[in-house]
Amino acid sequence: MTPAAFKSKVSTNSVAETQALAARLAAKLLPGDIVALEGELASGKTTFTQGLTQYFSIDEYAASPTFTYMNEYHAENVTILHIDAYRLKSGNELVEMGFWEYVENGAIAVIEWADIVADILPPEIIRLQFRRDDAAQNRRHIIISSLRGLDLT
Ligand SMILES: Nc1ncnc2c1ncn2[C@@H]1O[C@H](COP(=O)(O)OP(=O)(O)O)[C@@H](O)[C@H]1O
Ligand SMILES: [Mg+2]
Repeated sequence: MTPAAFKSKVSTNSVAETQALAARLAAKLLPGDIVALEGELASGKTTFTQGLTQYFSIDEYAASPTFTYMNEYHAENVTILHIDAYRLKSGNELVEMGFWEYVENGAIAVIEWADIVADILPPEIIRLQFRRDDAAQNRRHIIISSLRGLDLT
């Protein structure tokens, strides 16, 4: 089986649609999952993360943790670890922040700018690549790759 055995592409036309996509993924997430978000500024990574936290009824607003690198959100049955890797140099910095301890304890990790820390990420990640549309301001194209089948349609 090659990495990214399952690959699909979704396009969204609004913030609400991107958050609805996130909710469909959230319903399939398991403890210890790592959701790796890639894509340029304003491509929708934080918006998507907000959709995830809303699904788990987390009241706390999922702001971009650009200055803290890492935010933890707690729901009744799940902990979401939200990471913004934009200012990191490599995955080693994540490791030093205790990343694996969080994952081993069952947190679901959501990483913005995951390409920067890709050196430490395992093939089992759920990878989403966000792209803006050249013509339509509110359109985003999202490629989802994972080893396990995730039907998000
Ligand atoms: N279809 C869409 N999906 C997500 N965001 C969208 C969409 N259309 C417009 N936007 C806007 O694009 C911006 C996305 O910002 P954000 O989610 O913070 O991106 P990132 O975290 O990738 O920098 C927001 O201003 C949002 O309102
Ligand atoms: Mg962001």
